[in-house]
Amino acid sequence: MSLTLHLGDEAATTALGAAAARCLPTAAQPFVVELAGDLGAGKTTFARGLLRELGVSGQIRSPSYALLETYDAGGWQVLHLDLYRLLDPEELENLGVRDYHDGRCLWLVEWPGKGEGYLPRADARLEFASGATEHTVTLAAQGAAGAAWIAALNPDTGS
Ligand SMILES: Nc1ncnc2c1ncn2[C@@H]1O[C@H](COP(=O)(O)OP(=O)(O)OP(=O)(O)O)[C@@H](O)[C@H]1O
Ligand SMILES: [Mg+2]
Repeated sequence: MSLTLHLGDEAATTALGAAAARCLPTAAQPFVVELAGDLGAGKTTFARGLLRELGVSGQIRSPSYALLETYDAGGWQVLHLDLYRLLDPEELENLGVRDYHDGRCLWLVEWPGKGEGYLPRADARLEFASGATEHTVTLAAQGAAGAAWIAALNPDTGS
């Protein structure tokens, strides 16, 4: 299934991130979200909204330079990756992502294509786009957990 939403302004993207945090699955297993889309499309804005809602209180840095920021919030070990500057997907191993393959780990992965072959299977892929007049996001699920999450985010079917 896939769903496209219009994001009228930055606040709308932040609010979608917050809603996404509220309907994360409850199972104690990793949940992997790919955040795709061009530079400036809104990936980090969404991640910030989600992390804030999970309870992260300090500054939420974009991982553009560090490639990785981690958080312990809302019962999740969160891994926020931005792989734009990753030269080789094998470098992912050096970032310590190995520790995030079990338990309640949330992966938020910007530029997932750069880590192809070295990332866990995604539960959902969010494709952000900034057109001439507005931003949009298309949410696509892979598997039951991702589908339930996206259904809950759908204004027509969610709560
Ligand atoms: N729905 C929206 N409407 C208008 N502006 C937005 C919207 N969402 C985010 N922005 C703005 O777009 C800019 C870039 O957003 P953001 O940093 O989230 O992009 P990104 O996809 O993470 O880019 P990068 O690939 O460089 O990491 C920010 O200034 C943000 O405020
Ligand atoms: Mg970003």
